[in-house]
Amino acid sequence: MSATSKKMGRTSVPELRARKGKDPIVCLTAYTAPMAQRLDEHCDLLLVGDSLGMVVYGMESTLAVTVDMMVNHGKAVMRGSKNACVVVDLPFGSYQESKEQAFRTASHILAETGCAAVKLEGGAELAETIEFLTMRGVPVMAHIGLMPQQVNTMGGFKSQGRDEETARKTLSDAKAVAKAGAFSVVVEGTVEPVARQITEAIDIPTIGIGASVACDGQVLVTEDILGLFSDFTPKFVKRYANLGDAVSEAVGQYADEVRTRQFPTDEHCFGLAKKGKLRAV
Ligand code: KIV
Repeated sequence: MSATSKKMGRTSVPELRARKGKDPIVCLTAYTAPMAQRLDEHCDLLLVGDSLGMVVYGMESTLAVTVDMMVNHGKAVMRGSKNACVVVDLPFGSYQESKEQAFRTASHILAETGCAAVKLEGGAELAETIEFLTMRGVPVMAHIGLMPQQVNTMGGFKSQGRDEETARKTLSDAKAVAKAGAFSVVVEGTVEPVARQITEAIDIPTIGIGASVACDGQVLVTEDILGLFSDFTPKFVKRYANLGDAVSEAVGQYADEVRTRQFPTDEHCFGLAKKGKLRAV
């Protein structure tokens, strides 16, 4: 929710689109209902990202994430939130084959979860797909720059736009997805001058992740900022809390108390229905 507007009901896609060049859009990833509940009052946008494959399921990349996983987590985030606009990622292999395949997957996700829009990774090569979806009632958030689903073709999770060739490609991808009708675009892992140039060149909001303050909004993986995922931490992550350590400490204390019979105490046990009388059951 922006500092200037407190409104009832979910932030809509057109409202987000209209935030271009205004106060920054706040976005975080969410995968579960309780986390969505916590994030909802602070965020304009909740992204059910396919990063859940790595963060929740312990996978090495996002490539094995399925449509069913995205639907289930999308439903949970919708149940846990009531204000933020919820966007769900199209997982690898569920949209690249054809624009028709993309529509089938996207419409299924929209219908099953009730989310407002889908996100897909790709630039100019997916412009036709983006146009096909948006013309048929599926709002699309694009994702350019570092695209985790292309980890194998990119040879790792590599930042983009640090040389002339990838800078040019990232800018032309941004222009292509905006022209195709995307309502916003995630720009991941690129340098400030490129992010700035993109943000100035297109008329839809840019949501940066590792792409500097020049973007119209920011997104990060919630578990990264809370210290709940530590397999690796990208350079662009700022850690705002260390909840992983708090979990270890709390669970360690519970384990000690169980082993030493300090837990449970009377306070955590049921009393008898009538004082002193215990009937055989
Ligand atoms: O999958 C994801 O969570 C994402 C964000 C990190 C932008 O795509």
